[in-house]
Amino acid sequence: MSAQLIPIYDTTAPALDSYARRIDYLRISLTDRCNMRCVYCMPATGMQFMLKPELLTSEELLLVVRAAVAAGFRKVRLTGGEPSLRPDLVELVRAIKQAGIAHIAMTTNALSLQRQAQALKDAGLDRVNISIDSLDPQKFRQLTRGGSLEKVWAGIHQAEAVGLRPLKLNAVIVRGLNDDEVVQLAELTLHNPWEMRFIEVMPLTGVANVAEDGVVATAELIAQIEAVHGPMDDLGLAAADSARRYRIPGARGKLGFISAVTDPFCASCNRMRLTADGRLHLCLLRDDEVDLRAAIRRGASQREIEQIVRHAVALKPWGHGLPDGVLPTLRGMSALGG
Ligand code: 5AD
Ligand code: SF4
Repeated sequence: MSAQLIPIYDTTAPALDSYARRIDYLRISLTDRCNMRCVYCMPATGMQFMLKPELLTSEELLLVVRAAVAAGFRKVRLTGGEPSLRPDLVELVRAIKQAGIAHIAMTTNALSLQRQAQALKDAGLDRVNISIDSLDPQKFRQLTRGGSLEKVWAGIHQAEAVGLRPLKLNAVIVRGLNDDEVVQLAELTLHNPWEMRFIEVMPLTGVANVAEDGVVATAELIAQIEAVHGPMDDLGLAAADSARRYRIPGARGKLGFISAVTDPFCASCNRMRLTADGRLHLCLLRDDEVDLRAAIRRGASQREIEQIVRHAVALKPWGHGLPDGVLPTLRGMSALGG
């Protein structure tokens, strides 16, 4: 897209989309690669990964972050694939913070957290969300096609120890695989001040078959937990969060339910995604994108990039098309970062 062909946006106000939603949260995918192969994220074979020259360099990425800050963005989440596979992760965190982002979080499989948590915290990382889909080592290995639950626990404890708090844990529940562990996973919050989040499996490219047969609706999860622990306290939907929160009576932590499929939260959406190859991806569950990399590589200035970011915000669609049977086809979850 050429900067000359887009309208000129007011640079004095934060970016609003055409539905008056304030978009101030950028989720940055640092790589589409991963050292696990979760069944709901990637197919077992046939994955094609981006080549190095296609990825934004860290310098290019920081240009986008500075332009996004100028457009009013305040929060960044680093995702993947697995963001810790990026060799310069710690330096990137430091530079993103210095660019004026007040809050940086990261979604990770935690395999390398035991080693990296302290350096990440020192560089300015505020929080992590860690995937944990099963408490049984064998089943965990099956769900992640090779992941080590022991390493994940070590990562969780290290994240806690260095103060990457509040800690959030993610579980994608898939029928027939881990829907029998919902109560046990929820019980992690009885004695830990964590937020355990249950995510409905979404039908992204490469895993649509898993999603089709595997979606377990939030209502069913809540019923399972309440059958054992009685009625939960409904803590509501925090502003601009995708999770509805509950608490098991007396528990230290909270539960979160992300129901993109059965109860979309598009009305409070505040986010856009930056793919590792430099596209602004406007809605997780749609294919619409705006190419920033082309503009960067023809030498666009920060002000021009800011205009393209504002234009992308203006083009953001209202919500996903799942209720109408419209599925995204362009990228799988591992190239979007959840
Ligand atoms: N549906 C929902 N969430 C998914 N994730 C990966 N694939 C899917 C899917 N098909 C989420 C996982 C992981 C994060 C990186 O993305 O929760 O924690
Ligand atoms: Fe890797 Fe996360 Fe995808 Fe699992 S969900 S394969 S850990 S990117």
